Amino acid sequence: MNAVPEAQSADPTSALDLLGRQLLFVTGKGGTGKSTIAAAIGELAASLGKRTLMVEVDAKGNLTDFFEHPRVGYDPVEIRPGLWSMTMNTEDSLREYLQIFLKMGMMSRIGPLSSIFEFVANAAPGVKEILTVGKIAYEATLTEGVDFKWDLIVVDAAPTGRIVGQLDAPAAINELFEVGMVRTQTDWMREVLADPNRTALLIVATPEEMPVSETIELYHATEALDVRLAGVVVNRVLPELFTTAEEDTFDRLGDADAVEAAESVVGAPLEPVLEAARLAVTLRRTRVEHIRRLRSEVPLPMMYVPYLFTRSHGKRATRLVADALAAEMGL
Ligand SMILES: Nc1ncnc2c1ncn2[C@@H]1O[C@H](COP(=O)(O)OP(=O)(O)OP(=O)(O)O)[C@@H](O)[C@H]1O
Ligand SMILES: [Mg+2]
Repeated sequence: MNAVPEAQSADPTSALDLLGRQLLFVTGKGGTGKSTIAAAIGELAASLGKRTLMVEVDAKGNLTDFFEHPRVGYDPVEIRPGLWSMTMNTEDSLREYLQIFLKMGMMSRIGPLSSIFEFVANAAPGVKEILTVGKIAYEATLTEGVDFKWDLIVVDAAPTGRIVGQLDAPAAINELFEVGMVRTQTDWMREVLADPNRTALLIVATPEEMPVSETIELYHATEALDVRLAGVVVNRVLPELFTTAEEDTFDRLGDADAVEAAESVVGAPLEPVLEAARLAVTLRRTRVEHIRRLRSEVPLPMMYVPYLFTRSHGKRATRLVADALAAEMGL
């Protein structure tokens, strides 16, 4: 299916390499398709033999729905061959951190962490964010042989309004500590995040006013971030309905005499059908305008995923989106 509006098709910057890095954060305005795209990237990577981990950061917890698999917790679960999924939980992340770095094998002795954790998390800004980003960065450093190395980690991350705070947490906390243990920790996290060959941020946008505006804003806001913004996935792009010649025929059909003549042949009112086609054409045209605006203000690689007219949002739809991404990458 060719969903790419003609204005974009010849652009050499449109090749966006989604699978070339190890850690990919997927953000976007709520409801634009972050989880859909994160799931499709996971599906694509696993089907190409990459050992892949999907991390769901936002509380919704519906990422495994895209694979028709029951919901998962903090421990990664293999939900399809080669693809694991986990749901972020900052309290579990803190517990794991204490076990790993402070070598406190007897966690039970300090009782339930939740009360202490709630207190600290709410008292100090950035605590939840650092536990989230820290866990993800930690997963990226696992090495083959010693533990379990991920070829790719796809994060269904916070939406546009909160992603900067999340990704900036190690740098922000770094500023507070010149030396010491905290500094050592944030230093290695920043090293992982700031390596452009290893880590990237991806924005999902739909061709509509607000998602495009938020993408443009975020593009400017990420200039100061450690993580490099790699590109934008434009999701739910409407396919072209008519070619120019067909549009001409369509225009002529709008003539009252032509409608009357055609109706007498068909034996049914044509106006509702024509109205629906007009609406589809107008919708697509306004959407193309939003894509133009996005492209002129965000000079980064873009990918286009068509609007899927499927009723289900399970495995089949995820594979279709994965195929659309693969086609955009020339795979
Ligand atoms: N290309 C597409 N074609 C048709 N429907 C789509 C497409 N992409 C996503 N959707 C649908 O849009 C809805 C929102 O998608 P999704 O849950 O992935 O968005 P999200 O950004 O993760 O939302 P939230 O901010 O609520 O987490 C879902 O019903 C999904 O199936
Ligand atoms: Mg989601």
